[in-house]
Amino acid sequence: MKDKGGEAPLKPYVFIAKPIPPEVEQMIGEHCRYDIWKEDTISKEELYEKMKDAEGLLTSGTAIDSDLLDHAPKLKVVSNNSVGYDNFNIEEMKRRGVVGTHTPYTLDDTVADLAFSLILSSARRVAELDRFVRAGKWGTVEEESLFGMDVHHQTLGIIGMGRIGEQAAKRAKFGFDMDVLYYNRSRKPDAEKELGVTYADLDTLLKTSDFVLLITPLTDETYHMIGEREFKMMKDTAFFVNISRGKTVDEKALIRALQEGWIKGAGLDVFEKEPIGEDNPLLQLENVTLLPHIGSATAKIRLNMFKQAAQNMIDAVYGKTPKNLTKEFQ
Ligand code: DGY
Repeated sequence: MKDKGGEAPLKPYVFIAKPIPPEVEQMIGEHCRYDIWKEDTISKEELYEKMKDAEGLLTSGTAIDSDLLDHAPKLKVVSNNSVGYDNFNIEEMKRRGVVGTHTPYTLDDTVADLAFSLILSSARRVAELDRFVRAGKWGTVEEESLFGMDVHHQTLGIIGMGRIGEQAAKRAKFGFDMDVLYYNRSRKPDAEKELGVTYADLDTLLKTSDFVLLITPLTDETYHMIGEREFKMMKDTAFFVNISRGKTVDEKALIRALQEGWIKGAGLDVFEKEPIGEDNPLLQLENVTLLPHIGSATAKIRLNMFKQAAQNMIDAVYGKTPKNLTKEFQ
């Protein structure tokens, strides 16, 4: 298509706020003019400068608040390279006609695999015993002191039965012969029928589960939804695994629960502050496995997520409805 003067119209300009694989950069370059931030973090000032003319923003985790939106008068879409989108201020985005997209489906199995890594590592003390072997301690203690807990045939309680929750339930039910309870805002009759999972209210789930897996999105309602009351309700033999967002848990209460034996152990992929602070007491505890927020981090899935996020952004800047609008923008 040509404009009046016979010149091709300018492609939309977008900003990519993080390093992305070369083939995805090329894919975006075929449709858009773009600038890309290839370093670790971008300051607010630099980001605001880049946003002046941007119609699209590809990111994950950048706070999309009124300040940023004030500096982005042409913005049409924020495309998150993640399934979670707690960085969006939905109301402010709606008010200004900016839509938000994310990357559902692509990462469900991969994140469910990681949930199980944390469940197994916690119960069988994999990370702790790896440190033990490396420290040359093998053969220095009674074998009983290395015993862990079984995962198979135990009860798993899943808080947040979305797509990832269902994949975790499938692994639990068909791979580990576990009983699976779930708590969710709405009942999931299909999952109950197909996966044999049982709905429970939150307190019942906490009191009866051997493993509690938290996968709920972070919202105003789920902020600190698991705190002292909830940890005290759990069995003192139970393990807590969080792959949602750090802020869904009162981390101070979790630390006390681990230090004082209210629960047996934990596996965490997410923290209230990321990267975790050097002085975080969790770093000193043996009964917790810590990961650097890597739920979806396999090379294949991250590439696919980037492609999905790029396509969502390209569609939106060209006025097409992107495939993966978050539910609030559908
Ligand atoms: C996401 O994509 O939101 C999750 O944090 C996966 O780890």
